[in-house]
Amino acid sequence: MKNISWQKTIINKRHRQRLHGHKSFVLWFTGLSGSGKSTLANKVEAKLNSMQVSTYLLDGDNLRHGLNKDLGFSKKDRKENIRRIGEVAKLFVDAGLAVIASSISPFAKDREAVRNLFPNGEFIEIYTECSLKECERRDPKNLYKKARNGEISHFTGISSPYEPPEHPEIIVNTEEMTIGQCVNKIITYLMLKGYI
Ligand code: ADX
Repeated sequence: MKNISWQKTIINKRHRQRLHGHKSFVLWFTGLSGSGKSTLANKVEAKLNSMQVSTYLLDGDNLRHGLNKDLGFSKKDRKENIRRIGEVAKLFVDAGLAVIASSISPFAKDREAVRNLFPNGEFIEIYTECSLKECERRDPKNLYKKARNGEISHFTGISSPYEPPEHPEIIVNTEEMTIGQCVNKIITYLMLKGYI
């Protein structure tokens, strides 16, 4: 950055992590609309909270009511949406929290850019795997129906692509596993790897 230098702070991430008593990291949920991201992100946050872990949930839909309300669903806007969520996640990880981010984040390149904001091990990508057929059957917000009718354009899975992650840290298949099993898989991963 031209004419801008990095100001060193007395208190850094390690100090804040020590206060919280655990590492900080981001659980990045990606998947189709209706695949179960928000439900799982919520349940995982509740479980972590009950284990005395300091958390913050960044939900794509919710952020589009505020921070990202100027963005739509073009490729360019989604890129900016993911970039902002990534930068906010980085701030909260710096604050010492377990961050749970949930957004479709359909493009591998945009997710990779977020991963690259973090040192190794701090970015944990979770793919909520679910077939388009099943997401469309669930259609919790009635959006697939609207997308099929042409009432919504650039809808992920219908008129805009979704690129599944090739090497996510965790895959939870929400068609084959119960919500409880998915939550357990994620919490077990965090415990075995010494995050919490
Ligand atoms: S992302 O693609 O930029 O990551 P994000 O997760 O923030 O998307 O927002 C997706 C949510 O916006 C969906 O859950 C859905 O409720 C709503 N939505 C509205 N229009 C679209 C669209 N064209 N494609 C996908 N989701 C949409």
